[in-house]
Amino acid sequence: MIQTPQKFTALTDTSTRRLVAVVPAAGIGSRMQTDKPKQYLTIQGKTILEHSLNVLLTHPANIEQIILAVAPQDSYLSELNCLKQPRIRIIQGGETRADSVLNGLNHIPSSDNTWVFVHDAARPCLTHGDMDKLLAVNDINGAILATPAIDTIKRANNHKQIQQTEDRNHIWLAQTPQFFPADLLRHALQTALQQGLAITDEASAMELAGFQPHLVQGRTDNIKVTRPEDLALAAFYLSQQNTKETL
Ligand code: CTP
Ligand code: MG
Repeated sequence: MIQTPQKFTALTDTSTRRLVAVVPAAGIGSRMQTDKPKQYLTIQGKTILEHSLNVLLTHPANIEQIILAVAPQDSYLSELNCLKQPRIRIIQGGETRADSVLNGLNHIPSSDNTWVFVHDAARPCLTHGDMDKLLAVNDINGAILATPAIDTIKRANNHKQIQQTEDRNHIWLAQTPQFFPADLLRHALQTALQQGLAITDEASAMELAGFQPHLVQGRTDNIKVTRPEDLALAAFYLSQQNTKETL
């Protein structure tokens, strides 16, 4: 466990808080089984990646920079219009999602007062309302969007038999964005990766560093497009949100 540096123990002055975003988009989308990575599939004339970036770009809190981590051999990105946006900076992703996020965080200048939204490229249905709920959290532990578990939760043994039924009341499903002081998150993620730990979201790196990120209840339509059947669902949710501002 790392010690919280003394200078971070005070709450951030939100009036001068600077906001950036890191968007990991370097995955291959193997579970989606399509010929191109899922973030480049199109819904209503725009790629999933563009939908996701658009929500961040149009938020009134004015995110200063969006660091987009893409695969080294990405051949689809150059076709996108959103690249004209001066606030988007493209960098190289890594082997795992955590490596891509850390590469992104390494491009943020060190500062006590910069907070970062880490948001999956594959979550195009995010709303400004959910981002507002994260922005309302002013605690160095940070916060993530999540939804309480709805289904009954079973723990399996190695033979896919039920070992036990879990207490659902304390189970939440993590989404993105995940929102943290950028320097703290970089340190936490770097430490976790150096220890060889498998990190699937930012909060788990912060947890290992001794923080207790807040769970902020998000909308259930903020899905991560993962399997083929998710595409139609994301298209439906986006069609229901057709008042969304676009750049
Ligand atoms: N991601 C990334 N770098 C990686 C792996 C994933 O930036 N090395 C990104 C993906 O592009 C996606 C987000 O992390 O936006 C969430 O990951 P996931 O849904 O698992 O996407 P993929 O890894 O692309 O899909 P799969 O696991 O099915 O291969
Ligand atoms: Mg993956």
